Amino acid sequence: MTIRAVVRGVGHYLPERVVPNAWFEERVDTTDEWIVTRTGIERRHFAAENEATSDLAVKAAEAALKDAGIGAEGVDAIIVATSTPDFTFPSVATMVQGRLGLTHGFAFDMQAVCAGFVYALANANALIVSGQAGRVLVIGAETFSRILDFEDRGTCVLFGDGAGAVVLEADKAAGTTSDRGILATDLHSDGRHRELLYVDGGVSTTGTSGRLRMQGNAVFRHAVEKLANTAHTALDKAGLSGADVDWIVPHQANLRIITATAQRMQVPMEKVVVTVQDHGNTSAASIPLALSVGKERGQIKTGDLIVTEAIGGGLAWGSVVLRW
Ligand code: UT7
Repeated sequence: MTIRAVVRGVGHYLPERVVPNAWFEERVDTTDEWIVTRTGIERRHFAAENEATSDLAVKAAEAALKDAGIGAEGVDAIIVATSTPDFTFPSVATMVQGRLGLTHGFAFDMQAVCAGFVYALANANALIVSGQAGRVLVIGAETFSRILDFEDRGTCVLFGDGAGAVVLEADKAAGTTSDRGILATDLHSDGRHRELLYVDGGVSTTGTSGRLRMQGNAVFRHAVEKLANTAHTALDKAGLSGADVDWIVPHQANLRIITATAQRMQVPMEKVVVTVQDHGNTSAASIPLALSVGKERGQIKTGDLIVTEAIGGGLAWGSVVLRW
């Protein structure tokens, strides 16, 4: 008998304010046409001034718990993947724990930028299969609008705010590729590429939160190569191949990256959940947002084989193969 971490519920929250590409035309030298053609992004959501990452995270968590049909007291651990926490400390995860009224278990944040949710899923899976937790609430939540330089057209048009969450639960399984739950994980990082994507401030350097800086073109090249490779590796570890995949649920940074990765994996675009047009790049929130929207749209169904993959600052990247 094998223990698998199975998704019991999924949910998301997007701030009310929708910012169309036209909004940027009035601020920087850009056009809706450039943004759509180069990225696929048409709009994104920005959090209200009084809305923090934990507010988004709590709403996504409540939606996921409702979908799972369990109360917050049924959760043993909370992991929040974020690079835009409310405060330097405490963690967003403990704030969510407090707001959900949970007084047992443990909660912590995971910082792997855009790969954060994949890292959080892999760690939640490890907690579950090792018997340390029976149910883990895994959240990706970001307010990237707070770290954008609205004078840099190369970055400010790309990102948005939002949150998504899943409830993972331990389940007994046969130990075959037909099992529901997480079947394989694959994580990587390479700190030599720090300068390609970073924030130019922080607690122990400038004492400020800083602004996002990116060499988009270089990140793009790494992304296409590394995402397809990690997805292949995770599928290999699971004993599966691209032909078995029902859905790729990729990190939503750029439609051209999503398309090129699917091509390399020889998976047709009809099997890819795409939300980048509506959300922009929401960093660690993008995959759980896409899982939730994909389920809402009727794309993702019980038993489907899903591959998620993401890359971000670090560089850090990875992939998770799971059966829904
Ligand atoms: O989630 C974390 C991982 N991040 C990513 O995956 C992002 C990866 N990178 C990308 O998605 C793309 O590289 C970008 C969308 C950021 C840029 O697209 P690109 O096709 O790589 O464009 P580029 O950086 O090579 O720039 C081409 C031109 C430049 O002008 P010149 O030098 O050719 O005159 C840029 O200055 O496009 C210009 N440009 C813009 N023009 C209009 C850059 N940003 C804009 C803009 N509007 N917003």
